[in-house]
Amino acid sequence: MNDSNKMKYLRACRGESMDTPPVWLMRQAGRYLEEYRNVRAKNKFLDICNIPELACEVTLQPIRRFGFDASILFSDILVPLVPMGANLTFGEGEGPKIDPPIRSVDDIRKLKKIEPRESLDFVLEAIRMIRRELPDDVALIGFTGAPFTLATYLIEGGKPNPFAHIKQLMYTEPEAFNDLLIKLQEMITDYLRAMIEAGADALQVFDTWGGILDNRDFRAVNLPVVKKIFAGLADLNVPTTYFVHNNAHLISEVKETGCTVAGFDWRCSLKEARKIMGKNIAVQGNLDPTVLLGGESAIRNAVRNTLSDASGPGGHIFNLGHGILPMTPVESVEIMLDEIRGGKK
Ligand code: CP3
Repeated sequence: MNDSNKMKYLRACRGESMDTPPVWLMRQAGRYLEEYRNVRAKNKFLDICNIPELACEVTLQPIRRFGFDASILFSDILVPLVPMGANLTFGEGEGPKIDPPIRSVDDIRKLKKIEPRESLDFVLEAIRMIRRELPDDVALIGFTGAPFTLATYLIEGGKPNPFAHIKQLMYTEPEAFNDLLIKLQEMITDYLRAMIEAGADALQVFDTWGGILDNRDFRAVNLPVVKKIFAGLADLNVPTTYFVHNNAHLISEVKETGCTVAGFDWRCSLKEARKIMGKNIAVQGNLDPTVLLGGESAIRNAVRNTLSDASGPGGHIFNLGHGILPMTPVESVEIMLDEIRGGKK
């Protein structure tokens, strides 16, 4: 068992307010790092996810370079869809593809129920390895996608544009669509529990596409299954972060999910989010990732604004409002960290 008091990230998740908040970045292991590109030059993306030694190595790269307060398991939200029956590929520069996509009630019925401790043991093995290698004061975050986001990839078959297929199935076959979300929710809850058993210290659920829903649809279709995930994890007593991208219109709904940490993107005011979340839910975010493509003074100013918006009672975990972009200069990350930490950790 890790000494959780040593971990600044866990203390902030539990509501402690700090002058220098803990910091990690979504997609912190990835193409903006030369050491990642070197591993990637020799290996396919899915092989890095599938081979525990490689997943462990790339997870640790940004920790070694920047000393972030938390690491995030290197994997992908789409990995558990493979044992469920999805034919997933990542074409060079194309992003993920699921072919054939899920389009009918029958397709939904055919998706398999999985036992993550068996078919996803390679991910759990990566977690065990990473936890052994990480410094004691760095937390390890396990993650999954949220049901609606995973359903989007399954139904659209790849990058959703313009969400026609998923919305069509949602509006024409509401019961079967709900069955799909429940199937995914059950897999997600079980898989996240297995990640904690393997040694992860905290969990995050990515709902990249949940924000395309208006408040009514979000409440009717998405909120009940997301609530079930967090209710199914509550007895573990570990921080659980819900990040729904494009969520400025969904602040109250996020509060109702039962997450203990709420991630926000840059279009949402952290000041406002903090007020609505209250002291019991920590906030995470929310620097615009494109700010890191700007000059030093733009970066320092934006970091100061984020820190000031998030100040006050309650926990704040500094992060970007979405994943770091592959063209980000590493010097920009160093400037950002210097502005947050003022030279100290
Ligand atoms: O450092 C980390 O954040 C951990 C690893 C991680 C990856 N993907 C690695 C990855 C995490 C947490 C994810 C989550 C993920 N994957 C999300 C949710 C977060 C978000 O961005 O909204 C989504 C939607 C995916 C699906 C996915 N994976 C897409 C759309 C793509 C292609 C787009 C792109 O950025 O290239 C991926 C590929 C992917 N996942 C890469 C990485 C490092 C790039 C693959 C490469 O090296 O070629």
